Amino acid sequence: MSFCGYKSEIREGDTVILYLTINQYYSIEAKNTTLSKKGLPIQNVVQTPYGSLACGDLIGKKFGTKIQLKKGWAYILQPTPEFWTEILPHRTQIIYTPDVSMILLFLELKPSSIVIESGTGSGSLSHAIIRKIKPSGHLYTFDFHETRVEIVRKEFADHGLSDFVTVQTRDVCTTGFGEELHGKVDAIFLDLPQPWSAANFTREMFKSRGGRLCSFSPCIEQVQKMCGVLSNLGYQEIQTMEILQSNFAVQKRKMNVLNLNMLKTPNPNEKENDKTEKEFSNFVTSVPPNSLPGHTGYLTFATFPPTHSIYCNNLNKNV
Ligand SMILES: C[S@@+](CC[C@H](N)C(=O)[O-])C[C@H]1O[C@@H](n2cnc3c(N)ncnc32)[C@H](O)[C@@H]1O
Repeated sequence: MSFCGYKSEIREGDTVILYLTINQYYSIEAKNTTLSKKGLPIQNVVQTPYGSLACGDLIGKKFGTKIQLKKGWAYILQPTPEFWTEILPHRTQIIYTPDVSMILLFLELKPSSIVIESGTGSGSLSHAIIRKIKPSGHLYTFDFHETRVEIVRKEFADHGLSDFVTVQTRDVCTTGFGEELHGKVDAIFLDLPQPWSAANFTREMFKSRGGRLCSFSPCIEQVQKMCGVLSNLGYQEIQTMEILQSNFAVQKRKMNVLNLNMLKTPNPNEKENDKTEKEFSNFVTSVPPNSLPGHTGYLTFATFPPTHSIYCNNLNKNV
């Protein structure tokens, strides 16, 4: 499956992104048949605003091809974690790409990293972590909601990612992450209503000192409590940030040009009008937004001592 790496040709069962416009794209499966609501095999056809598409017809086509629909056209693209975040079926709130990118960077993940995540939720962040740490890394992801675990496990399998991820039903706030992971982990990510309860089980998980932890919380009160607990547990380099996307508008503006003639000693021969004549210059500039809506949550990072992180030299200053 192409979530697992780039390939040129679509094979039977592959997940494909059907891209119509920048705001309209869907995930489809390149299969001739699918199951109806009654569980009976039927032809796998998707309806789009530009006409229907028999998904089996995509088998053998190249990723990136432009295909003709009855009333328009579409591109068939490789799936990526970024596309998946936009179109996945929501079972929970999810983490979006701007936060995901900072999490991957500040957790210092690389191919071969061993990572713990909880809760798994809808698997949005999990897909991005897996792409970052494979082929030799592994993600251990926990959620106490059994149905969510079953659904996400099937999605990982459908996307060909099962070798890189282990999903478990577990209440990490009361039972931690399991003895089998003691001393094996490089990084821990928590997206939980009460991350401080799970934090008590985190220290013994790290492979070596210098392991990184991140906690995502929507409310500042959760952040305050989590920072206090992390500090008591001996974590260092505790740093909280909020990622806000800011779109600059490109606009044409007019500006007065300073008339330097006005600074000269007056010339009695010059007409009076010449001194006050104003010149304007037109230019294109970018304008920042007046406000920044779009709060998702706060990201709190910390290092299990001794510190080695390259990103946080101002020890504990930001708490
Ligand atoms: C907001 S969702 C996580 C979304 C996920 N980060 C994503 O990007 O799709 C939070 C998840 O934490 C799970 N959860 C809450 N408390 C838990 C606990 N004590 N142990 C394990 N999972 C828990 C919930 O069932 C829920 O699925």
